[in-house]
Amino acid sequence: MLVIQGGAALQGDVTVEGAKNAALPIMAAALAVRGDVRLGCVPDLVDVHTMTQLLQSLGAEVDRSTPNSAVINADNAQGHVADYELVRRMRASICVLGPLLARHGRARVSLPGGCNIGHRPIDLHLKGLAALGADLRIEAGYVIATAAQLRGAEVDLSGPHGSTVTGTCNVMVAAALAKGQTVIRSAACEPEVVDVGRFLINAGAKISGLGTPVVEIEGVDSLTGSAHKILPDRIEAATFAIAATATHGSIRLKNVRPSDLTSVTNALSAMDVEVSSTVDELRISTPRQLKPANITARPFPGIPTDTQAQFMALLATIRGRSVVTDGVFPDRFMHASELLRMGAHIRRVGASAVVTGGTRLSGASVMASDLRASAALVIAALTADGESQIRRIYHLDRGYAGLETKLNALGANVRRESDRQQPSAVKAPHYSSQSARQRTDS
Ligand code: UD1
Repeated sequence: MLVIQGGAALQGDVTVEGAKNAALPIMAAALAVRGDVRLGCVPDLVDVHTMTQLLQSLGAEVDRSTPNSAVINADNAQGHVADYELVRRMRASICVLGPLLARHGRARVSLPGGCNIGHRPIDLHLKGLAALGADLRIEAGYVIATAAQLRGAEVDLSGPHGSTVTGTCNVMVAAALAKGQTVIRSAACEPEVVDVGRFLINAGAKISGLGTPVVEIEGVDSLTGSAHKILPDRIEAATFAIAATATHGSIRLKNVRPSDLTSVTNALSAMDVEVSSTVDELRISTPRQLKPANITARPFPGIPTDTQAQFMALLATIRGRSVVTDGVFPDRFMHASELLRMGAHIRRVGASAVVTGGTRLSGASVMASDLRASAALVIAALTADGESQIRRIYHLDRGYAGLETKLNALGANVRRESDRQQPSAVKAPHYSSQSARQRTDS
């Protein structure tokens, strides 16, 4: 668990890692590439290790001996089965479906199953791959996909809550090696999807329209090894920016792309936070008084759903009434009940959470329910009176590299202690025991 003594304002510089949500689909896409794929800025996370294990289980060679890099060679990867034991640890395992199908004409991938942030179907992934000519069926908890020859087609990936990020990646990789032209309508525009597209282009794919809802792909015969640097993690950057704001601190974020964070910085500015940026840095400086705000998570360029919980923790500290809504995962409010235990006033009203902030939070023993909920609890604990114990922090290790080291360098008082409830999860990264736990992704 993390033991956090609240009260210190975060001050100083912090360097952001490469983006988890780009690294995972790009590593998966390497299955469809011949020769060495050299990736830089790969974050040292439990999820990245799980993806490494998944690729290795499929027969790929993955060398992660150099920090923050990965060299993947899938030339001899003959496997096409992504086993439940690995997939259940990490939802993003579904990203191997498109690459396996493109590479072998067949794939058998365990269905990821339920999750703590809400209903997470994969119907749009299947719809997209079916449009390219794949034959898909669900059997014994697995998606079984076959295609003698993938063929380009037009497909619309819009769902009830927008497009699908990993679904767009799956269809894009399959289409890159299909015969003829594919047009993806309602493609996800998230920067991580663009990064996957750029990776594929470096490997020889012909893709245009990245970052727009209409992505066009002209199939090629093969993709060949290339080098790619993973883009900075906008969710990690936003988490630190929100933490600095909540503690009335002042920090400089290095290795960021400010344009990926506009919705977040606009929301902070509306609360009266001073935000300034250069090409790859962001400065956050907080006045004594902050204004409440209404936050609605939406697909990019909206406020990311992966920052909604962190914003809720921040708003719980700001005097006045704020409203938080999640337009991507409408039921993603598990963190609210733990924040209540720290003294926050949060009420669910319809599809929103109404936060009446301003009462000082008090340290408590709380339980993390998913990755970003954990980050919200850390933020609340940093602002609280007294000491908090945050349990089940294996969620944090899935998505934040060296979080306590970084926070302590900014002046926080955070230590990792063994937790009898999770005796094998106290060191990051820790992999083997995760399979025994419920996987929750974000
Ligand atoms: C990715 C991110 C996750 C983020 C999410 C939304 C990775 C590894 N994970 O997850 O951190 O929270 O995007 O930005 O990149 N949906 C369907 N049918 C589908 C697929 C999705 O209805 O086939 C719905 C989902 O229930 C959700 C919305 O579409 O309401 C967006 O989900 P999606 O973009 O697919 O999330 P992931 O790609 O799984």
